[in-house]
Amino acid sequence: MAINDRTLILIKPDGIQRLLVGEVISSLEKKGLKIVGMKMIHVDKALAKEHYSHLVSKPFYPDLEKFITSYPVVAMVVEGKEAVDVVRLLCGPTNATKAEGGTIRGDFSNSTSRNIIHASDTEESAEKEIKRFFKSSELFDYKLVAQDFLYASDE
Ligand code: PPS
Repeated sequence: MAINDRTLILIKPDGIQRLLVGEVISSLEKKGLKIVGMKMIHVDKALAKEHYSHLVSKPFYPDLEKFITSYPVVAMVVEGKEAVDVVRLLCGPTNATKAEGGTIRGDFSNSTSRNIIHASDTEESAEKEIKRFFKSSELFDYKLVAQDFLYASDE
């Protein structure tokens, strides 16, 4: 665990349509996560099948593919201490009906499928998902000037 762990986030079409992009970014930034990559993209069917390959045989997959390809998404990579787990906690569980207030899904969704945000679930999937959505030239290594106010030197 380092303070420069990275994870992938997608603000899904419901987040875009409901004008919640700012809310999501604000929640990540307020936690102290550093944005190292961000872009708006349109997920096509091939990318949807690759990204959700573990779900293609599920009955809900056709709706999931239609939904994720319906409108643009905002893809982001953020960096920080234990970023994968920290972002998953900020999101709340996939089934937003069970998500606590104060989390992104708890505050803005009551659905499993229209749940605003995707976030990598393990460090291994984060590594794969970051490569799936970003070229290395689209990711930025820079010093956060406020770093000493986010972490002590021994963290
Ligand atoms: S699993 O098998 O349900 O545990 O899969 P998981 O990795 O948690 O991700 C599920 C993703 O599929 C989206 N989705 C649904 N999940 C469950 N039920 C229904 N009906 C459904 N429809 C869509 C769900 O939002 C998860 O998307 P991501 O983008 O990974 O959060």
